[in-house]
Amino acid sequence: MKLLVCGGAGFIGSNFVRQRVVEHGDAVIVLDKLTYAGREENLADLRGEPGFEFIRAGIEDAAAVGGAMAGVDAVVNFAAETHVDRSIAEPDAFITTHALGTFVLLEAARTRGVRYVQVSTDEVYGSIEEGSFTESSPLQPSSPYSATKAGADLLVASYRHTFGTETVICRGSNNYGPFQYPEKLIPLMVLNALHGDKLPVYGDGMQVRNWIYVEDFARAIGHVLDHGEPGNVYNAGGPDECANLEVVQRIVQLTGCGDELIEYVTDRPGHDRRYSLSSEKVRALGWEPRMRFGDGLANTVAWYRENAAWWEPIRSGDYRAYYERQYGRALGD
Ligand code: NAD
Ligand code: DAU
Repeated sequence: MKLLVCGGAGFIGSNFVRQRVVEHGDAVIVLDKLTYAGREENLADLRGEPGFEFIRAGIEDAAAVGGAMAGVDAVVNFAAETHVDRSIAEPDAFITTHALGTFVLLEAARTRGVRYVQVSTDEVYGSIEEGSFTESSPLQPSSPYSATKAGADLLVASYRHTFGTETVICRGSNNYGPFQYPEKLIPLMVLNALHGDKLPVYGDGMQVRNWIYVEDFARAIGHVLDHGEPGNVYNAGGPDECANLEVVQRIVQLTGCGDELIEYVTDRPGHDRRYSLSSEKVRALGWEPRMRFGDGLANTVAWYRENAAWWEPIRSGDYRAYYERQYGRALGD
């Protein structure tokens, strides 16, 4: 199969591209704007693979998207601004990429008759105290991130309904694993713990997330690409739920740092309390998660320990300024 993968230089996209090239033998064109979160190094091992190509462009660039989509069988869209805290501080790019970018991709897919897979998130359903969201749960997003992701999902659904474009949507829960940018909870805590820096827990730390190992989510998206029914949404949630404080305590144990590094800080505005997804529909397509949280977290800590060359340039660059703005103190203080 020949695929166009947008946002393929990011965390989940690069894991997905690796699976499709190595395990499926797909020809893959990656189109990525290389924002602060996108890195060509994430795909370094795939350079030179037959059919692999990289284009630096934004999904809102209609000319670049049109050229890249010529002759492909399907497009998978990972391209997004993905950090909730950044969407609260500076929502502009979230609106451009999720609304305008998704529109440009859908138009290109519609006019060329290309199958379209939208990668989305459990956050579009909002927070749930008990039980799990299904694909028919109402959309009640809380943040500028999740609201613009929900808007993109609705636009995708409208292209199916109005134009008959072959669209599917796959909504994942919180991913973790190798290549995740260290602004997100798990890599941030792992790197801070390895450096003896404070571990900033928002609010009371009792918010619950439904953790999925990145390779499991990438396979779920592949399943939806290969077997999903056009016009359908598929949830893909991880096998385990865990409160943030427990995640941090497990990282303290795995890294051997002291728990005096844990520090309670001001809560995120509008913070969702709990996410939980029912994944029965995608399981019926033959997918199931393989990695339990305990094992996946240990793998992840080991990967960050062994791949300092990957994260050192991040921690020494613009990220330092972001960290200072976000936590009100310099990295290392
Ligand atoms: P990420 O931030 O690691 O990567 C995003 C990628 O998109 C980067 O390579 C970036 O350069 C690229 N990008 C951003 N704006 C772009 C634009 N306008 N044009 C082209 N490329 C652009 O994100 P991630 O965690 O890998 O998330 C990928 C997708 O999965 C997103 O759509 C996200 O909403 C969704 N998702 C993420 C999670 C999670 O826990 N990380 C869970 C469920 C769903
Ligand atoms: O649920 C899927 C979503 O998961 C994705 O759609 C998003 O792209 C992804 O960023 C993630 O969103 P969260 O807001 O859940 O992830 P984050 O890693 O930012 O935070 C996880 C939890 O940890 C959340 O309750 C906030 C808390 N947190 C986070 C950071 C960065 C802290 O307590 N301290 C921190 O320093």
